[in-house]
Amino acid sequence: NKRFVTSFRNGYIKANNVVLPVYFKKFGQRIQDMEIRDDDIWVCSYPKTGTTWCQEMTWCIANDLDFEGAKQFLPERFPFLDHTPLFDYEKVLPEKPDLKLPLYVSDSITFINELKSPRFIKTHLPYKLLPKKLRDQSTKAKIVYVARNPKDTCLSYFHHCCLLEGYTGNFEDFCKLFTSDSRNPFFDHILGYWNRKDDSQVLFLKYEDMKQDLRTVIRQTAQFLGKDLADDQVLVLEDHLSFESMKNNRAVNYEPVIEINKTHNLIDANGTFMRSGTVGGGKQKMSPEFIKVFDEWEEKCLGKSGLKF
Ligand code: A3P
Repeated sequence: NKRFVTSFRNGYIKANNVVLPVYFKKFGQRIQDMEIRDDDIWVCSYPKTGTTWCQEMTWCIANDLDFEGAKQFLPERFPFLDHTPLFDYEKVLPEKPDLKLPLYVSDSITFINELKSPRFIKTHLPYKLLPKKLRDQSTKAKIVYVARNPKDTCLSYFHHCCLLEGYTGNFEDFCKLFTSDSRNPFFDHILGYWNRKDDSQVLFLKYEDMKQDLRTVIRQTAQFLGKDLADDQVLVLEDHLSFESMKNNRAVNYEPVIEINKTHNLIDANGTFMRSGTVGGGKQKMSPEFIKVFDEWEEKCLGKSGLKF
């Protein structure tokens, strides 16, 4: 009765010198050619850097703190552009014809192209693989980027891959994969956006700053989006965005997805998407050897960029 997914990330391709899962071939060109609208709001990030947190903050600010509207499942109101379904329920569970992937998963690009304005779009693509019209600044679309320190990102990604992607290796093995530049251009991703941070259409945020002083980041984001927030509104939003509140909020905590996978024995892992929400856990979990590898890698890649974690 077990249907665990045991293969992890089979196959890679290179696009514009970026290593990507092979499924990128299916939609890379469609993404390049996408129409962009002036009022699009994009949240871009490397996975596990606080994307969901940043999406919820951005959506709530742009929608004048419409907490009623925010009860809708986040991927419906803020779809993931470069998403690919890990399983096709119709094939894995043919005896459950009612369990069909929604369009925002099965064909996210069509779903996004047909959304009414203003659109909210999430992507993990590096800057150089964003739609051409988003990069050439022919529109006023806005990009919010969120970055997180590599050790915590790695730990969070490890748990994510066990929980949602069928990864069965240990943390050490994962650290090895994560720190291999040729497989995982983590710093390239950050630097691609860091180099655009002075564009008026780009806001560069850090997970660590959100943890340390969310109010300031809320105000900064509101200003970027051209929204005025009164002091009491900032406090209400801060509360809505707290880890405890988001952990218990089914619109953003991905519990519905995890429940489906568990109910149908698709993945053999326990845990929650909203896992720890802290800074520094990665370093605590890592061996001294890997701490050194991470530190040297960071120094080599960020060097004189002016960016520090
Ligand atoms: P941890 O696994 O370290 O807990 P993404 O949305 O990019 O996948 O990032 C997920 C990470 O952001 C997880 O990190 C998750 O717990 C954290 N996160 C989500 N909402 C948060 C919040 N409100 N406060 C702090 N961390 C949050």
